[in-house]
Amino acid sequence: MSNLKPFIRVAVTGAAGQICYSLLANICKGEMFGADQPVVLHLLDITPALGALRGVTLELEDCSFPLLVDFVVTDKPAEAFADVDVAILVGAMPRREGMVRADLLKANAGIFKAQGAALAAHAKPSVRVLVVGNPANTNALIALTTGSSLPKSAFTALTFLDHNRLKAQVACKLGVAVADVRNTFIWGNHSKTQYPDVSHGTVTNADGSLSRVMDLAESAWARDELVTTVQTRGAAVIKARKLSSAMSAAKAITDHMRTWWFGTEPDDIVSMAIYSDGTHYGVAEGIIFSFPVTIDAATGDINVVDGLDIDAFSQSMLDKTQAELIDEREAALAFLAESNL
Ligand code: NAD
Ligand code: LMR
Repeated sequence: MSNLKPFIRVAVTGAAGQICYSLLANICKGEMFGADQPVVLHLLDITPALGALRGVTLELEDCSFPLLVDFVVTDKPAEAFADVDVAILVGAMPRREGMVRADLLKANAGIFKAQGAALAAHAKPSVRVLVVGNPANTNALIALTTGSSLPKSAFTALTFLDHNRLKAQVACKLGVAVADVRNTFIWGNHSKTQYPDVSHGTVTNADGSLSRVMDLAESAWARDELVTTVQTRGAAVIKARKLSSAMSAAKAITDHMRTWWFGTEPDDIVSMAIYSDGTHYGVAEGIIFSFPVTIDAATGDINVVDGLDIDAFSQSMLDKTQAELIDEREAALAFLAESNL
């Protein structure tokens, strides 16, 4: 007799792209939803990419994944999101040469408006949505606004990659294992204004005692070099690879969804961009903002960790990233209104 659970339906957009080339295998190996969780993949891409996507599905078959029950391949959001339990929105209009962030924002506003509406119309009411395609926070906000029959808590955006980058930088600087670095997190936007915060960070020593990151590292490093390194890491990968991060992005997407599915470990805090309801750390209502969060394993509720001390430096960083997110929201909404989308 099989010990497997009933299958779940998982939509992945941008399925022919480079992140998904790593991500789909992670899902089918059970790294996201568990080794006893079969999946039906709903793979969405745009019509010109369907040929390449067919190549990906040939490889999915050849992997002979025991957990992969079936897959659906489509260029129609309604079909991609039909009855899905999870939607991972990776596909987005890429930044072309000469495009500024505002152009990218507009190009993607239309895409995420349509996808938000299709999710609300066709996905399970309990669907959990993760937006990866950039500008991820504002794309998630647009999808949430147009998918308004779904709860706001259904929508998240990816800052787990920044979270992982921060942990790795701290571990490397202090010569400790990444698993021993705790309470470091990302605030705000997945952009160069994000605030990688180590002011509450701890390192677990061999005897189980804790040391504060700020006691082990110079404050100038923590507030300057470290912040800039993490904020610009995506650009550094693009410069070196001539392509944006894919393996690390797929790993972070897997970490985000697995943590949302199974809950945070005791004493662990992770970073996720979620809808700000205006009640945490003075962050304005109505933007998708990355907070330190824990996840309740039983309900899947994402809870902001409140009560952390925010010093003047941290406050200035929170203000800056919040201001950028408000500007992005206004630009995206104005574009949608002007173009009657
Ligand atoms: P890619 O160009 O290799 O693939 C993107 C895929 O999306 C392509 O196959 C494209 O055809 C598809 N696509 C475009 N418009 C679509 C639409 N309307 N519906 C469905 N599919 C569509 O890009 P990639 O490297 O896989 O990156 C995907 C996105 O993720 C980019 O926006 C990138 O900037 C972003 N990203 C975000 C993070 C993060 O941490 N939030 C990290 C890395 C990359
Ligand atoms: C990253 O952080 O690696 C990406 O968001 C960079 C990008 O612009 O695709």
